[in-house]
Amino acid sequence: MMTEKMVAAFNDQINKEFFSEYYYMAMSAYCESIDLPGFASWMMAQAQEEHAHALRFYQFVLDRDARPTFAAIDAPKEEYDSVLDMFEHVLKHEQFVSKSINELYKLALEEDDYPSQIELQWYITEQVEEEKTAKEIIQQLRWVGDKSTALFMLDQKMAGRGTAEAASAAE
Ligand SMILES: [Fe+2]
Ligand SMILES: [Fe+2]
Repeated sequence: MMTEKMVAAFNDQINKEFFSEYYYMAMSAYCESIDLPGFASWMMAQAQEEHAHALRFYQFVLDRDARPTFAAIDAPKEEYDSVLDMFEHVLKHEQFVSKSINELYKLALEEDDYPSQIELQWYITEQVEEEKTAKEIIQQLRWVGDKSTALFMLDQKMAGRGTAEAASAAE
């Protein structure tokens, strides 16, 4: 059984993961609106990955004999100046999520909650990957600059990220 404080913090994190799903879905719709279908499908896969993160936390809360609760999900930002501007928001958001997971881990240490510490280690590793990926794409977009042929080619490369990868990412 987890402490009340721990359950509340996990439920707050579940909300953040669902918000992330929503945020990336809105980014996917933005990419469709500027005719970048490859980026749009990458973002949809990213949204599915966030859904899987939320469900993994949901299951963990249940497994610890506690109850997941559901707060309202904030409306995501829908407009960006460019796909580069959008990815800078991705990086900022992932840094925010990393901070939140690190705080959860700190709480798990304070509460002597060993199972939560172990569970959170998976998320800490995942966040390193999330930030790294965002930084790499930002760099690629900087190289692309305003060259439309290069953006067209990068869009095709982004389309290569399958949804199967996202579905298995939380396992
Ligand atoms: Fe996540
Ligand atoms: Fe993420």
